[in-house]
Amino acid sequence: MPFPVKKERLYSHREIQKRVKELARTISKDYQKEELLLVGVLKGAFVFMSDLARNLSIPVRMDFVRLASYGSRSQSQGKIRITKAIELPIRDKHILVVEDIVDSGLTLKFLQEFLKKENPKSVKICALIDKNERREVSVTIDYVGFSIPKGFIVGYGLDFDEQYRHLPGLYHLHL
Ligand code: IMP
Ligand code: MG
Repeated sequence: MPFPVKKERLYSHREIQKRVKELARTISKDYQKEELLLVGVLKGAFVFMSDLARNLSIPVRMDFVRLASYGSRSQSQGKIRITKAIELPIRDKHILVVEDIVDSGLTLKFLQEFLKKENPKSVKICALIDKNERREVSVTIDYVGFSIPKGFIVGYGLDFDEQYRHLPGLYHLHL
C-alpha cells in the first residue's frame, strides 16, 4: 500500500513533453553528423529516455547501465558500483548519458570516470533534473531539463521506495 504522503505537482506531463522536445531538438542538432549512443541510467531514467529518444531526429543506439551505491549517502566517499554493465561497445563512440536527477553528483562523477577509461570519442550528460543544493562534486551537465534547488521529486520515472515511477508528471514529495 502506498504511504499517505502529501505530494505537490511541479510539472505537468504536458510541460515535461514540451521541455523534452526542446532538449531533443538541441541534441539532434549537436550530434547531426555523429553516431550517438544513449546510455540510460536505470531505473529512474527509463521514462525520460524513451520520450527523449522518440523526439530525436537523428538515429541513435541505446543501452542502459545500472548503478548501486552502498554505505552512507552522507559520506562524500559514497561507494558506487555497476550492477548492470553497458553491453554495446563504447570505444570511439559519442556517449550521451541520460540520467533522471543529479543530486550530490557522486553517481554521475563515478559513471563519467568509468566511461572515460573505455576511451569513448566523447561523454556528455543529459539530466531531466538538476537538483543543485546538495552537490558535493562538480559535474558538468550538458543538457538540463529542469533546475530545482532542493526537495524530493517523484514521478516520470523517479521513485520513492519504488513507488510513483508511473506518474506522468513530476511531483514534490513532502516527506
Ligand atoms: P547523486 O549520486 O546524489 O547525484 O544521486 C543521484 C541518484 O539518486 C539519482 O539518479 C536518483 O536515483 C536518486 N535521487 C536523488 N534525488 C532524488 C529525488 O529527489 N527523487 C528521486 N530520486 C532521487
Ligand atoms: Mg538515477
